[in-house]
Amino acid sequence: MFSSLEKLSPDPLFRLLEQFQADQNPNKLNLGIGVYATEQGEPYVLPVVQQAAREVSVANFNYLPIGGDPLFLKQTARIVFGDMTDQSSFVSQATCGGTHACALFAELARRGEIKKMIIAEPTWVNHRHIFSGFEQTSISHLDQEGNPNIDGYRTAIDQVTEPTVLLLHGGPTHNPTGRNLTKEQINLLIQLIQSKPIFVFIDFAYLGLGDGFEQDAISVRALWSQLENVAVGVSFSKNATLYCHRTGALFVKTADGATVESNLRRIMRTTISNPPAYGEKILVNVFENHFDQWKGEVDAMRQSVERRRKELVSRIPTLGYLSDTRGLFGMLRITQEQIDTLKADYSIYIPEAGRINLSGIRLDRMDYLVKAINSIIT
Ligand SMILES: Cc1ncc(COP(=O)(O)O)c(C=O)c1O
Repeated sequence: MFSSLEKLSPDPLFRLLEQFQADQNPNKLNLGIGVYATEQGEPYVLPVVQQAAREVSVANFNYLPIGGDPLFLKQTARIVFGDMTDQSSFVSQATCGGTHACALFAELARRGEIKKMIIAEPTWVNHRHIFSGFEQTSISHLDQEGNPNIDGYRTAIDQVTEPTVLLLHGGPTHNPTGRNLTKEQINLLIQLIQSKPIFVFIDFAYLGLGDGFEQDAISVRALWSQLENVAVGVSFSKNATLYCHRTGALFVKTADGATVESNLRRIMRTTISNPPAYGEKILVNVFENHFDQWKGEVDAMRQSVERRRKELVSRIPTLGYLSDTRGLFGMLRITQEQIDTLKADYSIYIPEAGRINLSGIRLDRMDYLVKAINSIIT
């Protein structure tokens, strides 16, 4: 019955994680999957989230509305878009994390008139699969010097004549390169997009972990306020350490709001019926009662990643190109052979293309990591 299906490859990041977990080397290091670990290599749940979770009532596990908890959506929109937002002017949908926000938007676009998309590579590997079915124009996200390739974006936008999704990453972070378009470049894109049939989808998975909450939101707010067709997928996996509790949101700004809302609700109802509540309830408590503590703790996470990035670059100056990266990720300019050697000889796990999660660096294994990298690049 399924013989016509193609057998697909396993997800490379989760496969790498399994290999890491099975590795017996006591010095092993996981620089793969995008999960924040402490400087001692421990899993981390924000203390404010732990406290807020303890305070969540367990007296009522009834279903949430199909759209999600209205308070969660209202507070999330305020954090992302600022106080200026008229919440009645766009559609809100709670999601199972950021992946689901991307997937819901992709499904919505498929149901509409959009058949094409512009995708800047490299991007988060899941994007290509989530947006399958669109005619994808692939551009290079970075130029030869490793800077955001504004000319590539500009040329692709100039050529758009039919409804097209433009996929952007929100804030200064970018998965996997760690370099995103600057605020000035985003402003330029906004001018170009305004005369085109382009729907911008912003994948915003690292709010607070780039340059801090307010800074990170600037370019997203510029796109949101100046474009007519724009959607934002928000994830609370990283900045609220809620990974497995699958908490996120999708916001869609469009003239066809009522139709879009009805379609999103139908897709939800026929797939997962209604969103998971635990993360939303925890976050409503955080937003209402512990907001400043949350921001402070996320800031401390961000600073810890910065410390590790700086330390690595100061110990291996040839990795100086990582200094300009923001957020958890940067890409080592190494070959697949070198990646394989790091795994085979040192039990250092790095996914294809050399993306590293800087928060996977344990300070007590810094010497080990430096020695290993030096051995493959010299
Ligand atoms: C760019 C980007 N978008 C979305 C996601 C998905 O986040 P979530 O775990 O909330 O589904 C990730 C996670 O790695 C990501 O890096």
